[in-house]
Order: sequence, then C-alpha cells, then structure tokens
Amino acid sequence: MSRRSWLSPSLFSPWLTLSLLLTVFCSLVVVAQVPPVDTEGHPWWQHAVFYEIYPRSFADSNNDGVGDLNGISSKMSYLRDLGVDAIWITPCYPSPQVDFGYDVADYENIDPMYGNLADFDHMVAEGRKHHVRVILDFVPNHTSDQHPWFQDSKSSRTAPHRDWYIWRDGKAPGQPPNNWISIFGGSAWTFDPTTNQYYYHFFYAQQPDLNWRNPAVEKVMLDTTRWWYKRGVSGFRLDAVDTLFEDPALHDNPVLPGVNKQGDPNEENQYNTNFPEVHKELQNLRKVADESGAVLIGETWTSNVAQLDRYYGQGGNELQMPMDFMFTMVNKLSPPEFRRQIAAVESAHGWPVFVISNHDIVRSYNRYGDGKNNDAISKLMGAFYLTLRGTPILYYGEEIGMENNDPARKEDVKDPIGRTGWPKEKGRDGERTPMQWNTGPNAGFSKKDPWLPVPPSYQTHNVATESKDSNSVLNLYKKVLALRHTNEALLEGNYTALNEDDLNVMCYLRSYKGKAVLVALNMSATPQKAAFDLSKQGFGRATLRSLIASPEASAKGNEVTLEPFGLLIAEVN
Ligand code: GLC
Repeated sequence: MSRRSWLSPSLFSPWLTLSLLLTVFCSLVVVAQVPPVDTEGHPWWQHAVFYEIYPRSFADSNNDGVGDLNGISSKMSYLRDLGVDAIWITPCYPSPQVDFGYDVADYENIDPMYGNLADFDHMVAEGRKHHVRVILDFVPNHTSDQHPWFQDSKSSRTAPHRDWYIWRDGKAPGQPPNNWISIFGGSAWTFDPTTNQYYYHFFYAQQPDLNWRNPAVEKVMLDTTRWWYKRGVSGFRLDAVDTLFEDPALHDNPVLPGVNKQGDPNEENQYNTNFPEVHKELQNLRKVADESGAVLIGETWTSNVAQLDRYYGQGGNELQMPMDFMFTMVNKLSPPEFRRQIAAVESAHGWPVFVISNHDIVRSYNRYGDGKNNDAISKLMGAFYLTLRGTPILYYGEEIGMENNDPARKEDVKDPIGRTGWPKEKGRDGERTPMQWNTGPNAGFSKKDPWLPVPPSYQTHNVATESKDSNSVLNLYKKVLALRHTNEALLEGNYTALNEDDLNVMCYLRSYKGKAVLVALNMSATPQKAAFDLSKQGFGRATLRSLIASPEASAKGNEVTLEPFGLLIAEVN
C-alpha cells in the first residue's frame, strides 16, 4: 500500500475530514514553531546544532545493507534527544555511486537505493515534527558522466549541452591541454574519442566539471536550489566551492617538489581553484536562499583566515556558514595551536563554524586519541567544539566515540582513491562505516551485511549501551548540547582566551550580559590545576560552580583541578 493511499476518496468521512484538517493545522503550528529568526534576533542557524549524515551508513529500513531515507526518518527522536536541530544529508540523488553520490545524475530526484521523493517528503515532515530541519548537499562543480547533460555534451561538438562542460583540444596528439592533476589521481583531462577532445574533471573522470561561465548552467543550478527549498529543504551544504572556476587560458599549474599519495607530482592549484568569479555565484545562490530563509554551508578548505573571511561576502552576502577546516588541521591536542586558530577565526567577519570530523577525514577518535584514553579525549573534544562561539557541525557517530575502521586489504576497499592509492592512501571507507545503534547483529544498522563492515568496538560504543551509562561519550555530548541550548553565555557570549601561556590546559570564558561560563580542558596526560583571574573580564571575585565535569575534575574558588584529559564547564558567580 502506498503511503498516500489512505487519502483515497472512498475513505473520506466527516471524522476523517476533521482529523485531516487537525493534522494540517498541527503541522502548520509545528512549522510556525521553527521561526527563521530566534528571540535574540539571531537567524535560526546561529543557535542550531547541525549533524552530518552519510545516508548509506546511518540506518537501513529495508535491510538491503545500505542506509536510506526512511531509516533517517525513523531516527528523528534520537536526533532530537541528542540535541540536533538540523541534519545535513550527503548526496542522496540518483547517481552511479562512483563517488558515493557526489557524482549526480539527476539533481531533482532521490536515488532508488535511498527511497523516493515521497520518502523524502515524509522525512522532512518527520523532521518538522521533531524540530529537525533538513539540509541537502549541493554539488555545483560537476555532474556524473551519466547525467543526460553530459551524455548530450559528449555526443558531438555542436550538441546543445556541449558548452555546459569544459572541452579542449590536446596540446599535441596524445597530450592533455595542460598539466592539471585530478586530486583523485592522474591527469584532470580525459580524452573522448567521439569528438576528439579532452574534458576537464577536478575529481574522478566520471565527474566532469560544469562550465559555470555558461549562463545556462548558472540558471539551471539556481533553479534547482529553488526547487528543493519549495520542497522543504532549509539549506544546502555546497560541495567543493573553491573549484567552480578555472583559468580560461589554461596556464599550467606550478609544480612543487615530491609526489602525492596517488604518485602524481605535487602541484599548487593556482590556475584551477579559488577564482574570484566564485564569489559572484555564491552571491547569486545566496539571493535564492534568502527567498526562503535558508542557510548555505560551504565546504571551504582554506589555508588562512583571509580566504575564509572572503566566503562570508561583503556585508555577509555569500555563505552564512563557511566551515573552518583549519581547525581540523590542528591534529594534536595542543592548546597553543587551538588558541591561535580560534583567535584567527574570531577575527573574521562572520559567525564561526566548527567541525572536527567528516566523511572525508579520519575520525577525531583516532586523530586525537592516544590509544589509551580515547574515550576521555573524545569527551574532551566534544566539550571543546560544542562550547565555542559559533555553530558546530557534528559528524554522525562522533557522539558515541566511533572509530575509523580502515580496510586491511586492498580488495576490500570501496572508495576508488583507496584502490588507486593503496597502501599510502587507504581511501575514506574507514570514516564512513555504519552507525552503531546497539549490540545486535551489524550493530543494529541492518539485518543484512552492511556495505562496509562494522568495527568490533560497536560492542561497547553504541547508542543503546551508552544511553545506559551516565559516564559515556554519548551522555557527555547530550549534557553539553542540552546546556548550550539553554545557557545564554554559551549561545550568545563572547569568546575570551584565558591563561594563554598554559601549554596543557585550554581554557576560555564565554560571557554575555554579566553572565559567564568558563571552560577548562586538560589536553595533557598528567593531572593539572589552573587558577583564573577574571577581574579584567569584570568578574573580580568570581567563584566557579561546576555545571559539567569529568569524574575527578573539581572547582574551588577560582581554581580548577583536572585529571589527565579531564574537563570542566563551570558557571562563573
Ligand atoms: C567533496 C566531498 C567529497 C567528494 C568531493 C567530490 O570534497 O566532501 O566526499 O569526493 O567533494 O565531489
């Protein structure tokens, strides 16, 4: 029976009509309860907590080994209890899945592997009921080579969509137009014998780059975002924004010493990334987003704050939420380095966005863990990025301390770059394994063997077990998220670094209208004490009252004591 068959006229009765009207009325009320601007005048996304879902791996409702949209719908109360306000779902559009959805074959549909548009609508409705908004992933730089636009484009030099992609003659017979390298390995140009020209692809050859200099491309992409906003989407995460434009004169990139993990020469992407034209397109995408109060999150791999700053736009007319990946590049527990990075981002002209993990980078459990105290370190990191000024984006599974599960053998690798780059590059399978729900078969993700194997740690690190343990990573995340949703200093407050000479304890104050929260995080393997003079911040004789603390952490007067990797979040009185 289809989900909508209960609406058939034969079932209509006065009672049903009344209950239908009530349902419609209630859902309108629910929508109205999620205003675009919250009471302090902040747009909704500044106080929201975002959660990234890799749909293949979150929850499998039809037990085929791959997650799906109905699986996500079934977990809305889990997400709400955790303290999530918006989910960003990585691409779930029809796709040959060469890059697991980042090769889109139709921008306005759902891949049958994940369900259909009715399931999508159901998911948005379930989200509304639970006050969880839905953000989709928008892949503007490239399509799949199976997309009808590319199929037409490659069919002849005069095809209507020829100029929708980037076609060029080779430099000489058998030689690509220039030296640009695909970041997924090999030349960024693939020769197509049908028309005897090369097409350009920053990523896999199956992901040809769109030609954003063609106004028809721009128009169709803007219309696509509008189409999804009308369907209830609250924003987009924009994939690979810095790659939209490249040098029309095709200058060679400067070659750097050495080779990368794929064995290609290292290059500086001077002529194929970060072109100023991207900002005009971001402004256009933003205008469309503003028609619906939607948010644009950027996959902004920047190497300095000036670059990150540009993505906010003049007067904030581009991305509301460019992600700070420089934060993820601080790959050790180093208070001085984290302080430097936060200070840099604080000096930018937009609202900070903190991330510690995603589907392209090794999970934080492994990156920061020392192999012995990983759970304590996981909690420490949770208490850290969730109490900074700005919006955090959690990657699914971080809240239960999921670890990377890298393939042990080349033949098990699913991510193509893991096969071409083996053994230096094992690919990204390790950080994309199924969510660990319970101790049942396949960690409760699916009744069938999942597309990627579940690591043995699921026996201890899973939602069901951790829900019952007050000292679990999950409960720490829940406590911190609950606090940040209600505590004004955490929601609104300024960030001030404290004790900046301390090499072991990362501490800062979040203060707002005479109220403050102090966060102290012991990033070392030895016990630490830290005392605070908050007179400069206007809290002269302050005493600390613990709000959330690791088992042996305590506050007395203006001093905190922390066990190795201990944490304390305290109210300043
Ligand atoms: C982004 C995605 C990554 C994908 C690439 C190509 O970096 O996060 O997963 O492979 O874009 O679309």
